[in-house]
Formats: sequence, structure tokens, C-alpha cells
Amino acid sequence: MVGIDQVLEKLSTVIDPDLKKDIVSMGMIKDLELNDGNLKFTLELTTPACPFNVEIEDDVRKAIGELTELKNFDMNVTAKVMEGRSLEADTGMASVKNIIGVASGKGGVGKSTVSLNLALALSESGAKVGLLDADIYGPSIPLMLGMKDGFMEVEDNKLQPADSNGLKVVSFGFFADQSNQAAIYRGPIISGILKQFLVDTNWADLDYLIVDLPPGTGDIPLTLAQTIPITGILVVTTPQDVASNVAVKAVSMFEKLNVPIIGVVENMSHFICPKCDEKHYIFGEGGAKKISEQFNMPFLGEIPLNSGIMAGSDLGKPIMITNPDSPSAVAFRKSAKNIAAQCSILAAKLQEEMASETSGEAPTPEANQNQN
Ligand SMILES: Nc1ncnc2c1ncn2[C@@H]1O[C@H](COP(=O)(O)OP(=O)(O)OP(=O)(O)O)[C@@H](O)[C@H]1O
Ligand SMILES: [Mg+2]
Repeated sequence: MVGIDQVLEKLSTVIDPDLKKDIVSMGMIKDLELNDGNLKFTLELTTPACPFNVEIEDDVRKAIGELTELKNFDMNVTAKVMEGRSLEADTGMASVKNIIGVASGKGGVGKSTVSLNLALALSESGAKVGLLDADIYGPSIPLMLGMKDGFMEVEDNKLQPADSNGLKVVSFGFFADQSNQAAIYRGPIISGILKQFLVDTNWADLDYLIVDLPPGTGDIPLTLAQTIPITGILVVTTPQDVASNVAVKAVSMFEKLNVPIIGVVENMSHFICPKCDEKHYIFGEGGAKKISEQFNMPFLGEIPLNSGIMAGSDLGKPIMITNPDSPSAVAFRKSAKNIAAQCSILAAKLQEEMASETSGEAPTPEANQNQN
């Protein structure tokens, strides 16, 4: 008769392609029961948006299938997003597992468009997602969501985010009177507003909070990097950025502040011919890949240039919602999965670091298992 040890041995042969570790030592097997040849367990994936979820599930079925003496096998598949940020020093936002700042060197590259559609793609996968429009001077998220008249209430001294398409949304644009004033606000006031949006908002439990930043390396990106621990920064570039080198400046600033870079997404990367479906790299190919190689950071996707994206943004109808099967929506979904995977990788690294700090030793697979 098959024993628990044999089951675990088989399951240990399944490797998470992102984390490069076996699923048993990563603590992904829960509630395992083996009674008289009947096996039952839960496979807990690290994010519902993992690009390899189907592959891991298939590998598990294959591995268990090799235990020919088993009478019955029942697997429940769930996902629990890993904490990609240290919550120890973080008093106000302990229920937010990952915070992703979306930054760029220069304006108009599509940060807000990418932030919104990525947030929607992550939410679609089943994750709990918030979107913080940190562009205090020029908030654009309310318009992009068709929420020009949206507002946020205050309850128990906490801001209540607005709800839109399953996202929890906070934007200075919801303060209609004040947002016209923002242009005259100076650095400390702007930083104060962002801090309040971060820690004085009732975000509830979130798997991912996407923070849409204004361009460049000013007060707001700096405040985000210095106020609370964040999972990392997603850099948005366009093919033209490569020549002007502006993306590089933003990356350098966050690296100096020891904020991890999650990776790069290239927006307006190419044009897909509606007649022949062929990709045309109008502004040149491979620019963002080059930057990602130069800085040793992952290349996480390319979003096509598509008039439907722009028209949808202006009308408050994001393409992920209005045209979910379009090549643009598919590209956002693919990038969102890669980003979620990178967050899991950063989370696993963080767990190892914390485990080795506690034990004073180099991290081991066992240490990882105990974390879960
Ligand atoms: N892939 C795309 N295809 C077509 N249009 C796009 C695409 N991405 C963004 N746009 C359009 O480009 C313009 C700028 O995009 P967006 O506002 O998202 O940029 P941003 O980087 O947030 O700008 P800012 O620096 O001012 O905050 C918008 O009109 C948007 O609809
Ligand atoms: Mg913007």
C-alpha cells in the first residue's frame, strides 16, 4: 500500500518553474489525507495569475498518476498570494500583500493605461486588487474608469475607496474641488496627501495594490519608495525611450533607494495590422529588452499600439472590459501573469531572507516550508 512518504516523494519532483523549487518544500501542498489508498490534498498556488498554474497542476497529476497502487485521488486547487513586502515595519498597510509602483522616466508613455488594465487583468484572475492613482497633479484614473463624478467617503477616520469593476480605487480626482488646486501644492503637501492615501485608506485585504505614479523621479515616486515597504517598481517604457535614456534615470533612482525593480513592460511596442494580423515594430524592435538586459531586470511584456486602447480610455471604458479577447487585452493579461510571477519570486526571496535573519543561517528548503 502507498504511504505518505511515497506521495511526498512524488510530489517533490514537481518544480515551480518560477520559484525553481519543489512544491512540497514551498509548502504548496496542504491538508493532505491518505486513507486506505484514497489520497486527497489541496494544491495552494502562489498567485491565481501564475503563468504556470496549468503546467504545475498537470505535473502534479502526472506525478501522482505514477503511484499505481492508489485507489482514488482528489485534488483541490486554490491560490494564496504570497506577501511580497515586509510587513514588520509597516504599521498602516498590513493587509496589503503586494504594492507595485508603476513608474516611467518621462510622461505620456502609458503608465495610467498600463496600471489600470493590469489591475483589471489581475482582478480577472481572481486576485483582490486595488488601484491608487498617485498622480496628484494630473489624476487620470477616474476619467479612464468613467468615474468623473466618483467620490470617496470617510468612515472612522479612514478613506473608503471607490469600487469599479471589482477594483478598489483611490484618486485625488475624486476630490473635485481640491483637484483643481493641486497645481499650486508644493512637495511636502503632495507627499502628505500620498501618505494619507496609502496608510489612511481602508484598503481591507488586498493581494495587489497597483500605484500609478506620475512620470520621473520627483516627490511622489520618492515618497512611495520611502514611506512603506513595497514589493517593487514596474517600469513602463516606449520604444522611443531607449534612445533618450530617460527610463534608465528612473530605474537608477529606485535602485539607489534599494527598491526592487519588478521588471519592464514596453507599451506602444508595435502595431498589429488588422487585415493580416502581422506585428509591425514601427519605432524599432527590442528596445525595452535591451534596457532590461542592461539592468538585469525581467522583461515582462509588450503592449501593442492600438487606437481602441486610447478611445476606450477617453470614454471611461478600459479595453480589458470592453474587448477582452482583443490582442491588446491578451497582451495585458500576459504581462499581468508575468508580473504576478515576479511578485511571487520576490516574496520567496523575502521569506528566505527573513528566515535566514531569524536563524542566523543560510536559508534552506526546510526553512521555506516552515514559513508557510
Ligand atoms: N498601447 C496604447 N495604444 C494606443 N494609445 C495608448 C496606448 N497606451 C496609452 N495610450 C494613450 O496614450 C495617452 C497617454 O497614456 P497615459 O495617460 O496612460 O500615459 P501616462 O504615462 O500615464 O501619462 P502621464 O505621464 O501624463 O501620467 C493616452 O491618451 C492613452 O489613451
Ligand atoms: Mg498617468
